Amino acid sequence: MNKILIGLIILFLAFLTQINLFEVILALTAINNDNLGTQNDVALMRSLYPDPSDRNDDYLTPYLLPWWQRIIINMDPIKKLAVFFVDRKTSGFINHMNARTKYLDSFFNQTDFPYQQVVITASGLDTRAYRFANQLKNVIFFELDLPDAVKRKEKSIIEVEKKYGNNLAEYNYNVSRKNVVYVAIDLNDRNIIEKLVDTKKFDVKKPTLFIMEGILYYLPSATVDSVFRDIAKKLDRVCIAHDQHDRCIYHNNCSNPLANEQAIYPMGVVEKKGYPWISGLVCESKWLKEYFAQMGLKINHMVSSHELNEKYLKNEARKKIGML
Ligand SMILES: C[S@@+](CC[C@H](N)C(=O)[O-])C[C@H]1O[C@@H](n2cnc3c(N)ncnc32)[C@H](O)[C@@H]1O
Repeated sequence: MNKILIGLIILFLAFLTQINLFEVILALTAINNDNLGTQNDVALMRSLYPDPSDRNDDYLTPYLLPWWQRIIINMDPIKKLAVFFVDRKTSGFINHMNARTKYLDSFFNQTDFPYQQVVITASGLDTRAYRFANQLKNVIFFELDLPDAVKRKEKSIIEVEKKYGNNLAEYNYNVSRKNVVYVAIDLNDRNIIEKLVDTKKFDVKKPTLFIMEGILYYLPSATVDSVFRDIAKKLDRVCIAHDQHDRCIYHNNCSNPLANEQAIYPMGVVEKKGYPWISGLVCESKWLKEYFAQMGLKINHMVSSHELNEKYLKNEARKKIGML
């Protein structure tokens, strides 16, 4: 109860003193989770989407967040306040996270799911291994992240398992580690397939889905290229679903000037936190086709954040709030 009271006082003071609540939240995240980068921030944004009519299905993430973030999510007036501040500052980050989550979830909801292994690269607080476990009983999930992050994730899952057990059955989630293999890795070491094979559970011959969400722009281009090349070279049947930024946002020369304008604030935030965005592709179809051909891959499907919002957000009012 004391904790709830402290949380409420902090939020109230933030409001009264006109401090940007979004920055208060991010600052607290940093205090609470040393060296865990931005994984809590994106998880919180994913959970903040306010409209139940087109909200993503990830009801598990809040259980992995610290208590004071759960207060923000679960107490409607505080949540509304948080959404207001985030929308004002980030031009649609909450919308983007909602549409992105729904889009990447659609890979798991295919009829006749064609993969036997799923690799969640830089998994952070990604919950797909648990949310889709009942639906994809014979699929093995590999969750890859930096050593501290993997440790923390496993610990949080054990806690949720112990504390809530069957209570989460209402969402049909299987919060169990039975089909999950946790792999500690620094992607900059450029040995992703070797690390997977070392687990003795990964089979390079089996059809595999890689999810790379919210990670590639934190890595140097040389690492990104090497990760793609390694996967393409060593696996025959593979699909990589990932998001990526256009390099133009760093060079301040996007053909749509709004894109530059909208990127300034989030770029500043991640930089301040010590996890700057440092790489990107050129989001132009000829360039991308050539790039992926050099990596040994082929583009199957490409979608802009604008198209994602159009497809997955039903709420017209939220569509109007810009996008990253
Ligand atoms: C923005 S979070 C995204 C987490 C998750 N994919 C999601 O969308 O919720 C970035 C994640 O990348 C991980 N990460 C950052 N640098 C990494 C590296 N060099 N190797 C492996 N993981 C890394 C962080 O620990 C963090 O969990």
